[in-house]
Amino acid sequence: MKDKVGREIEYLRISITDRCNLRCAYCMPESGIKLMDSSELMTFEEIEKVVKACAALGVSKIRITGGEPLVRKNASALVSKIKAVEGIEEVSMTTNGILLNEQLSELIAAGLDRVNISLDTLHSDRYYEITRGGELSKVLSAVDQSIKAGLITKLNTVIIRDFNYDELMDFVKLAEDLPVSVRFIELMPIGQGKDYKSVTTEEIRKTILKERQLEPFSQVTGNGPAVYYKTESSKGSIGFISPLSHEFCDSCNRIRFTAEGFLKLCLHWNLGINLKAALRRGCSLMELSKIIEKAVREKPNHHEFMMSMDNKVDYDTRKMVQIGG
Ligand code: 5AD
Ligand code: SF4
Repeated sequence: MKDKVGREIEYLRISITDRCNLRCAYCMPESGIKLMDSSELMTFEEIEKVVKACAALGVSKIRITGGEPLVRKNASALVSKIKAVEGIEEVSMTTNGILLNEQLSELIAAGLDRVNISLDTLHSDRYYEITRGGELSKVLSAVDQSIKAGLITKLNTVIIRDFNYDELMDFVKLAEDLPVSVRFIELMPIGQGKDYKSVTTEEIRKTILKERQLEPFSQVTGNGPAVYYKTESSKGSIGFISPLSHEFCDSCNRIRFTAEGFLKLCLHWNLGINLKAALRRGCSLMELSKIIEKAVREKPNHHEFMMSMDNKVDYDTRKMVQIGG
């Protein structure tokens, strides 16, 4: 399926809950967010139907996100359902890793292909502080286990100037010691993210280059905007995701489906269509595909994160935890 500027949309990110078992300071207020009523939540059957409709339009890759997707009961059952849809080639998940060990074997049995684990610090006291209560050892063990189990494993690391910038080289070393991609993500001014200082990819690169050489590395497969490198001795790789400094909207191949049933066309804009009414009146697959195809044509060309920092434009006020990254 193509949008009106010809971008081929082949990747759907599905947020299956707005709940999270952590409270990362740059993502959520300490008191949490107002949660959806569970009757509002898309059921697995409804999600499956949307996946079928999208697959019929050419979507082949699905990522399951949250909140924290693993707090939703029986997430692996959804993975199986999605994996069985004709045309779906790959199912991945973005998780904070806290519950991953407990559910890893069922997720793998269900057909999960890859996992991105969020990890912003390698110090347990800092982890406890930034996540407001999280236990680092659980996440580190989940990283180990998912590598051992053969999942393609990536880390998402948001670099924040006064928090973990001093750990940059420790993360580079981690990618040298383990077969994981460590992806440094520029902090976006969404929700609580506005209260923290980001570091640009360019600055991160320069800091790494003081100690290491970076060779472009194209073997990492991914569906997104990360640009990968290797250092001389890395078992894994280093990736940069630069939503602010290098706008990648031109090659954006993704749409999102939120836990409340909103088909979101761009991370930034509040544009899209609520599919819930159609789903709950029992629309046919064909009808659903038509609604989605029509909506996707209106996918915005660009984000305007830099402008929205001055509150000049009508951007989406959903928080990251409600979108799923
Ligand atoms: N900017 C960049 N990344 C963010 N995440 C959450 N909030 C932001 C933000 N404002 C990341 C988390 C997680 C992923 C789902 O999104 O760290 O890795
Ligand atoms: Fe942290 Fe992700 Fe939960 Fe937000 S959704 S609080 S970033 S673990």
